[in-house]
Amino acid sequence: MRSARNRLLLASVLFCSASLLYLASSGIQCPRHRWAELNTLLANQSQYSQPNLFPEDTPLIFIGGFPRSGTTLMRALLDAHAAVRCGEETRVIPRLLAMRATWSRSVKERIRLDEAGVTDRVLDSAVRAFLLEVIMGHGEPAARLCNKDPFALKSLSYLARIFPKAKFVLMLRDGRATVHSMISRKVTISGFDLTSYRDCLTKWSAAMETMFSQCQGAVEGSCLPVSYEQLVLRPEEEMRKLLNFLELPWDPAVMHHQDLIGKAGGISLSKVERSTDQVMRPVNTDALDKWVGHIPSDVLRDMADIAPMLRRLGYDPRANPPDYRRAEAVTARLNHSQSLGTPGSPHPS
Ligand code: A3P
Repeated sequence: MRSARNRLLLASVLFCSASLLYLASSGIQCPRHRWAELNTLLANQSQYSQPNLFPEDTPLIFIGGFPRSGTTLMRALLDAHAAVRCGEETRVIPRLLAMRATWSRSVKERIRLDEAGVTDRVLDSAVRAFLLEVIMGHGEPAARLCNKDPFALKSLSYLARIFPKAKFVLMLRDGRATVHSMISRKVTISGFDLTSYRDCLTKWSAAMETMFSQCQGAVEGSCLPVSYEQLVLRPEEEMRKLLNFLELPWDPAVMHHQDLIGKAGGISLSKVERSTDQVMRPVNTDALDKWVGHIPSDVLRDMADIAPMLRRLGYDPRANPPDYRRAEAVTARLNHSQSLGTPGSPHPS
């Protein structure tokens, strides 16, 4: 009887040890473990010598803008930097942010949530935890974690509120080229009619207005608009400016990102993202004016009214195409006006 009990006890101990070993080797990690890992990586970086930071203090980098504006190229260039990991689009982050915006929009719903103790504070803390877990968990660890989901920047002001130390990189591109890219490559975006340049340019302008206004209204030094045209025309100059803005040291690896694709600590690309084929190539200027000759004449005639954001971003709506090489002053003006901006709304409308 006694020996049977001993055998049962031994079997239980062996089973528990085997289960623990299995869990450890199968890579199951709890968020705390990942959090501790991030803290250590940050503490090893001289400029973040403050271990045990709070989740809201994470110096995340968010890259966004209208899809087809060079957002994947930008994240690949940053992924090439030794201290940064962006990774593929998560797709769930912009969806959660859009959902979060709806929870506060309706007064009736807001009252119901408050009555239930589900306050803004509780929701913000839950959204912060979700974002961090997805951003940390979907790729390799790195000292500076970055996220690229283009439309997440529609919630730029909200992201800045829940992550006050975050930096934002807003990609800008001539809307005519962006829309031509969408239409010619059949990149569907919900609500956009891919048979109509007029419809797509109108909606491009509205979406850019939402993102750009929030970038202008962000705390000084937290949002940098980067022009796709300037990036491909003068990659080193633009990357030096960008790394300086992100408070990262210069890394020459960002000048040959294509060599780091698929390498450990380098760039991981998704087989199903639409820009993967293009981003595998070295930085090039091939796509600058491919849109010329494809936009219907009535749309060209009404361009300034259809897409007012063109002029606001420094693109001449009557020039087909503008001289992108002479547009050097545009980003300088944008960066200057950023510091004069007014605060944006905390949520996308
Ligand atoms: P086109 O479709 O006009 O060629 P996003 O990643 O935001 O969707 O942007 C896609 C655009 O970025 C594409 O525009 C693509 O050509 C451009 N792009 C991607 N990799 C590039 C590279 N290595 N050099 C220059 N442009 C690049």
